[in-house]
Amino acid sequence: MTKPTILVTGGAGYIGSHTVLALQEKGFQCVILDNLTYGHQDLVETVLKAPLIIGNINDRQLLEKIFSQYPISAIIHFAAYAYVGESVKAPLKYYQNNLVSTLTLLETALAQGVQKIVFSSTCATYGNPQSIPILESHPQNPINPYGASKLAIERILQDFDTAYGLKSVIFRYFNAAGADPDGRLGEDHDPEPHLIPQVLYTALGRQSQINIFGTDYPTPDGACIRDYIHVSDLAAAHVLGLEYLLRENTSNIFNLGNGNGFSVKEIIDSARRVTGQAIPTQECPRRPGDPAILVGGNQKAKETLGWIPRYPDIDVIISHAWQWHRRRHS
Ligand SMILES: NC(=O)c1ccc[n+]([C@@H]2O[C@H](COP(=O)([O-])OP(=O)(O)OC[C@H]3O[C@@H](n4cnc5c(N)ncnc54)[C@H](O)[C@@H]3O)[C@@H](O)[C@H]2O)c1
Repeated sequence: MTKPTILVTGGAGYIGSHTVLALQEKGFQCVILDNLTYGHQDLVETVLKAPLIIGNINDRQLLEKIFSQYPISAIIHFAAYAYVGESVKAPLKYYQNNLVSTLTLLETALAQGVQKIVFSSTCATYGNPQSIPILESHPQNPINPYGASKLAIERILQDFDTAYGLKSVIFRYFNAAGADPDGRLGEDHDPEPHLIPQVLYTALGRQSQINIFGTDYPTPDGACIRDYIHVSDLAAAHVLGLEYLLRENTSNIFNLGNGNGFSVKEIIDSARRVTGQAIPTQECPRRPGDPAILVGGNQKAKETLGWIPRYPDIDVIISHAWQWHRRRHS
């Protein structure tokens, strides 16, 4: 039996491209819609070889054309802007792209009879944690427009289930990290806001040092602790989430994280072990709005979806990222 066709918005981006690869390996057909603001056409063409429609998720006519051309059974919706700091300075850009454009996508999908969606949400919807690990039941009080734009879509998806029967799996990711273990895909953002690639750019000599923001947090080594989840484990969870949606036709919400936290200093030490480079650091004051610890509970996804992260070890996550960046950026 042929597997369903899935529309993957943002499929030329970091997590989206790894997910397309994982879906293809399970026999799903993928159609990618990406406007290439941050996506990479070369990786779609050389690695994924899936149909790539270059366009915007807010383009109603284009969406109607895609839905009439391909037998889309479900959508996996990655397309969004995801820079927290930028969202504080340019909230209009974030509400426009992440919220208003998503409404167009949902409205067009429903009109075409597409009733299933997997949505990329974020741990940024929780805001400052009241308890660690952060469980799905933790209150959601986002402290920036990025998190608020994602929470708004979460609420809309719940309302659309009640009113229109649209079923969704919402994934709240912690920090995506690493790269395809076989070196085919990886992270390539410009600007690059994420710690692990920045540390590896320092190892490659692309930047002179890595700043450690805050060394007086109430953590064992004084640095912030975050939850890093391997991008291929995220991709595998999307396949399981999609299969759950197609099988159960029920909406649900899951954290996707490692379940273990690593401090900024532990990340730098791991990168030193993996790369053999010194990686100079500079200690800086805390950044406003950075909680000391963000670690998610991942039990619900494990129990309900049968998800087992394959690469929880931080040295393995960083070695896969290193293999990718050395090839892509040196
Ligand atoms: N990277 C993380 O650690 C992380 C953590 C939590 C949540 N998320 C969410 O996961 C999703 C994917 O993140 P990523 O790190 O892969 O980002 P990314 O920027 O690499 O991928 C997003 C893709 O969407 C495309 N895009 C953006 N707006 C679009 C639009 N209007 N129309 C068509 N395409 C559009 C971009 O060109 C890009 O290819 C995002 O929704 C993000 O908010 C990411």
